[in-house]
Amino acid sequence: MDRVDIIEKGKLLIDWASKEMPVLKIIRDSFINTKPLAGLKIGACLHITSETANLVLLLRDAGAKVFLTASNPLSTNDEIVTYLKNYESIEVNSKQGETTQEYYENIKRVIENQPDLIIDDGGDLISTICTEYKTIASKVIGGCEETTTGVIRINNLYKQGKLLFPVIAVNNARTKHMFDNRYGTGQSTIDGILRATNVLLAGKTCVVAGYGWCGKGVAQKLKAMGSKVIVTEVDPIKALEAVMDGFEVKTMEEASSIADIFITVTGNIKVITDKHLKKMKDGAILANSGHFNVEIDVDYLEKTKISKRKIRENLEEYIMPDGKHFYLIAEGRLANLVAAEGHPATVMDMSFANQALCLEFFAKNKSKLKPGVYDVLTEIDKKVAYYKLSSMKIKIDELTEEQQKYLESWNLGT
Ligand SMILES: NC(=O)c1ccc[n+]([C@@H]2O[C@H](COP(=O)([O-])OP(=O)(O)OC[C@H]3O[C@@H](n4cnc5c(N)ncnc54)[C@H](O)[C@@H]3O)[C@@H](O)[C@H]2O)c1
Repeated sequence: MDRVDIIEKGKLLIDWASKEMPVLKIIRDSFINTKPLAGLKIGACLHITSETANLVLLLRDAGAKVFLTASNPLSTNDEIVTYLKNYESIEVNSKQGETTQEYYENIKRVIENQPDLIIDDGGDLISTICTEYKTIASKVIGGCEETTTGVIRINNLYKQGKLLFPVIAVNNARTKHMFDNRYGTGQSTIDGILRATNVLLAGKTCVVAGYGWCGKGVAQKLKAMGSKVIVTEVDPIKALEAVMDGFEVKTMEEASSIADIFITVTGNIKVITDKHLKKMKDGAILANSGHFNVEIDVDYLEKTKISKRKIRENLEEYIMPDGKHFYLIAEGRLANLVAAEGHPATVMDMSFANQALCLEFFAKNKSKLKPGVYDVLTEIDKKVAYYKLSSMKIKIDELTEEQQKYLESWNLGT
């Protein structure tokens, strides 16, 4: 494909996603007039997808210059990158399949442009700037963190006194995690597994490790496809929730010898280790949809394997010393973003609407917030939900004055 065709393909993908992003369109139309980000530089570390392109174009229309880099070495769509490079006020250097070294070099390039505002997905950009570029960090107005793992890391950075500017935990907005994490990860993880393997999910026994917002989504979709689903958890309340939602709950050790497909989505490290792999059936399929590639012990597979070969796109076969074959999807990186296209635009519409409105909030409230981790304002969260509902032509009831008063009182009982 020549460059013009690639650009055209990128544009088609971005336009297609934009049809499912009405909330972002409302905000973009308003920002084109008000230019809330005029003159500001934004450093963004995000999965470079068609939905991200729509956010970046919105930020540009709001008057910002955007320096974009990938939040995972394997999740970049090169056609989108080529398209975005057409814009003078957008700089992007990432490419699909970059090395870890290139990944960090690109993050550092973004930082060296001295961004005023940050958008991060996973915490690599914010932690690098706060620890290795303190002078630049001290001039940052604020940052927004997109995902659960990133929020955990930024909170830990703050606890250690190393966070140098305020960060809004966009993941914690209800219009983000209740939809993006649950419905987005749920559907797109299944999509990634199917594109990589084309196995029939009906009748298969699948383990979902982690019954948080993402795990709930993955488990529900697998159930809907006819799989028998076993959930593993470390939180007794989430485990109980999984039981009452109709799932079997077991330890990973118990589940290891039973299941055909394993999906980790905990945000934790070494959830599937050698002790589990040794018990697994020949032919077990392994996938991860948690943020980093640390949930399945891929190092163990690499060090112990007798041989390895690529079977299909994003599917590698490991032959182990005991003769067993394991099939790893997307090198243990986010299966939904590497083997499929990530979340559908409909949910990214809300996640990125929160991002855009939080950046506007920072621009309007420069230097008013101290370094720390903040929740998205309820009014922003609700605004995103109202915009989304109105784009679906759905109206809801409003509290009457009497109802509002009743909810604020204690003295009216039986
Ligand atoms: N693939 C995607 O596109 C995508 C989208 C959103 C979030 N994420 C990532 O997915 C991960 C999970 O996010 P979430 O929002 O569901 O988080 P969450 O906090 O809602 O859920 C995580 C769950 O995993 C459980 N857990 C932790 N360690 C465990 C272990 N050893 N075994 C079993 N369960 C364990 C926790 O108790 C919790 O219930 C994070 O890394 C997040 O960043 C990925």
